[in-house]
Amino acid sequence: MDVSPLQVRTLPTAPYADQKPGTSGLRKKTYVFETKQDYLQNFIQSVFSSIDLRDRQGSTLVIGGDGRYLNKSAIEVIVQMAAANGIGRLVIGQNGVMSTPAVSCVIRKIKAIGGIILTASHNPAGPSGDFGIKFNISNGGPAPEAVTDNIFQISKTLEEYAICPDLRVDLSTIGKQSFDLENKFKPFTVEIVDPVESYANMLRNIFDFSVLKEMLSGPNHIKIRLDAMHGVVGPYVKKILCEELGSPANSAINCVPKEDFGGHHADPNLTYAADLVETMKGGEYDFGAAFDGDGDRNMILGKHSFFVNPSDSVAVIAANIFSIPYFQQTGVRGLARSMPTSGALDNVAKATKIQLHETPTGWKSFGNLMDAGKLSLCGEESFGTGSDHIREKDGLWTVLAWLSILATRKQSVEEIMKDHWQKYGRNFFTRYDYEEVDADAAYKMISDLEAVMSDKSFIGQKFSVGEKMYQVQKADNFEYSDPVDGSVSRNQGLRIIFTDGSRIIFRLSGTGSAGATIRLYIDSYEKDPQKMYQDTQDMLAPLVDIALKISQLHQKTGCSGPTVVM
Ligand code: G1P
Ligand code: ZN
Repeated sequence: MDVSPLQVRTLPTAPYADQKPGTSGLRKKTYVFETKQDYLQNFIQSVFSSIDLRDRQGSTLVIGGDGRYLNKSAIEVIVQMAAANGIGRLVIGQNGVMSTPAVSCVIRKIKAIGGIILTASHNPAGPSGDFGIKFNISNGGPAPEAVTDNIFQISKTLEEYAICPDLRVDLSTIGKQSFDLENKFKPFTVEIVDPVESYANMLRNIFDFSVLKEMLSGPNHIKIRLDAMHGVVGPYVKKILCEELGSPANSAINCVPKEDFGGHHADPNLTYAADLVETMKGGEYDFGAAFDGDGDRNMILGKHSFFVNPSDSVAVIAANIFSIPYFQQTGVRGLARSMPTSGALDNVAKATKIQLHETPTGWKSFGNLMDAGKLSLCGEESFGTGSDHIREKDGLWTVLAWLSILATRKQSVEEIMKDHWQKYGRNFFTRYDYEEVDADAAYKMISDLEAVMSDKSFIGQKFSVGEKMYQVQKADNFEYSDPVDGSVSRNQGLRIIFTDGSRIIFRLSGTGSAGATIRLYIDSYEKDPQKMYQDTQDMLAPLVDIALKISQLHQKTGCSGPTVVM
């Protein structure tokens, strides 16, 4: 197939209300750049320009996405720009769909220079929802800050972008398409692949599929319910859990990826996965799980909707890690959790004498530790769990990890969780989110609080609520020195740590899409077996009171309460 010569276009700086990205013949005008028009072209050109031309030439890049609105048309533009920017080959999930963990897997497998994922993760989809572009590097993980900073700097001064506007790619047909470009000896190739295949293959080598098959479809099979919420994970659930492991069709729901996620808010938590929670309450199913739009997050439920807190989930997997054949081969190189995640994992690390790393929020620091061979299993309180099999969190992997543990222990989810608490003690944990807060008020509240906490008299101060008394042992703004690349991340969240180990943490979200989101995390350890099964909110109420009193959060932001409690 021949396409027209490579063209270099100057970035239009005006609002072109009548033109969509990818249409040819963009007019050139010079208004002040003040709209989101050509955001995509600017972002993608900045990503390409950040890669040395010699590294770009002949290289392979993976493209995936969660199937949301605008993804396909964005991918068409990205293909045209990749060709013009010297990328040799693109590997794209059929119809532009490939989950975040699967993209990570494919990048690593085919040794690509990186990948582009069209997703806004757990945020709403559809014409009035969110849209996002994510760039992953050659280890399969999110681009580290040095890379994203560079991309950002380039984007600020970029004046033009290269594109082959007449190149038409067919995203729907599996197979290879090649395009001859002017002045190029080698054709530019695009391979449309089955988004599930490589990923499923990887899972087959991590887990014992015959054991799982027996448990899901053998004579004494358990019943599971997986809700893909019309995000990207549906085809993966259908192929792996239903077709291959034999779980009946009604174990998987909302499995067709839709541009608006079928109106679902594909964020796996007790609020947004309410349908699954309701169904599970009935007691028909033994195990339930939900996923987010791009398939990296998960929520695990037991029979009657017994909720597994994500901080506990990673701790349970750590305590039962050899139920997963992969780890029998690799051993356990280290464990890690993000700072705000509860200390449940620490208890397992201590008991097993495995090194524990406490990292900033996000998956980037985990990736570095994994690359350096220091980390096998990690998790975050925000419904993310994963291992060094890839460099992203992985929802379906977590489900298979839990099912492997169920198969080994021959216990229910609730029994496993309760045994775990009896053995290691329990970290009661909650998170309060204050969304769409006025940004100035939020920043001021945080900086005022930091000032209060830095006062010498704060350490040793006692706070009482009812009969409970807490004394401050340590207070700081979490800082992380990466043991691998030596980089230092500052301002990662305010921590107040009490003498009994309880923690109050405040931080500002980096992923919210309107105003500022303040997150308040409370973590408190309990080893008294009598108190182990009490209600989390009751147990943590005194610490919530103290947190609100010290920070004056409500007074300073005008909020009367959190928008979400997890
Ligand atoms: C949130 C979560 C964090 C997670 C990130 C991406 O970030 O808290 O754990 O890694 O989404 O999924 P935040 O909005 O808190 O910055
Ligand atoms: Zn996600």
